[in-house]
Amino acid sequence: MPIEPLRALSLAELRQRRSAKWRSYPDDVIPLFVAETDYPLAPAISAALHEAVSRGDTGYTPADPGVAAAYSAFAARRLGWCPDPDRMRITGDVIMGVVEILRRVIVPGDRVVITPPVYPPFFEAVPEAGGVAQSVPLRDTGDGWELDLEGIEDAFREGARAVLLCNPHNPTGTIHSAGALRTLAELAVRYRAVVVSDEIHAPLPRAGNIVTPFLSVSDAAARCGYAVVSASKAFNLAGLKCAIMVAADDRTHAILRSLPDEVSWRTGLFGALATVAALSPESDPWLDAQAVAIDANADLLRTLLLTHLPYAGFRPPEAGYLGWVDLSACGWGDAPARRILREARVAVHSGPAFGAGGAGHIRLTLGCAPEVLTEAIERIAVLV
Ligand SMILES: Cc1ncc(COP(=O)(O)O)c(C=O)c1O
Repeated sequence: MPIEPLRALSLAELRQRRSAKWRSYPDDVIPLFVAETDYPLAPAISAALHEAVSRGDTGYTPADPGVAAAYSAFAARRLGWCPDPDRMRITGDVIMGVVEILRRVIVPGDRVVITPPVYPPFFEAVPEAGGVAQSVPLRDTGDGWELDLEGIEDAFREGARAVLLCNPHNPTGTIHSAGALRTLAELAVRYRAVVVSDEIHAPLPRAGNIVTPFLSVSDAAARCGYAVVSASKAFNLAGLKCAIMVAADDRTHAILRSLPDEVSWRTGLFGALATVAALSPESDPWLDAQAVAIDANADLLRTLLLTHLPYAGFRPPEAGYLGWVDLSACGWGDAPARRILREARVAVHSGPAFGAGGAGHIRLTLGCAPEVLTEAIERIAVLV
């Protein structure tokens, strides 16, 4: 069946929204800085939320709102992996899940490897859990990025206790290969370390790509790993607060079970209801349509940059809807986002916030109307 195109809301409609994307800057700024998308909700999500509102169903989330079963079925359908719903626990959001797991598996002062350039809150999540973030930057291969497995092994050898993996990777959109993930798992087992895999972008590979969930790659990965997943990026549900912590082994599941009840009570009921609707087969056509729209925007961004900013470096993401653009050849300094906001009135995420490898870069969100993306790049190009 042909996929119905998914169109972003108009700017006039979007400016009525009250989320951070639309309330952080004045109306003359095009906001592309935060990972929120501009599409209407998937119909099954709207229906579930409207129904809850009409019933005044705004209380606490029950212990099993159906989220774990929904994720297991979604992963089987779309990721080729069948995680056991009985080995999952829900919580409020992905970073909460990451922090709570890390708190249990490290002791204060332990080093936790992160792989910059990487989602800036990772730099805060590790100390929030009592750890010390140790950067082992991704390796730029010339046509993509990859984990520096030798660097990670060195870190383990020197005592690092865990890796906070971003799979797929924010901001580069890299899908880590099954081979790299397998090696990472072997190393972690050998050095008795833990891998916490943030898989929030996994539901949204770009056309032709397959995301490999870390826990699915081998017995070693199942033994040493935890995944934290959510429908919140792919379906734009971040404000509703629901994420899932996944284990694939009795020992790691025992760790999840040992987390305080309160960790699961923090899940938002609307988040849980929306997640069940998002992950149901009924929302698959919407997700497919969104992937088509994002693919088209990634292609559009490449064309716009070639036309207007030929010195910019851009490799389209393999998953997710974030564009990581290297503007270092433009001579706008380490943090071009500042000048872009001030003079072009476009809000993009600032590269240096992503740690090593971020200087001279910006990150922008591709989940918008093509006309908005076009205007943003044309405004930036005027600065050249
Ligand atoms: C890799 C990654 N992890 C976590 C988050 C935040 O998720 P949550 O709001 O569920 O904590 C984001 C948001 O963009 C992200 O890109």
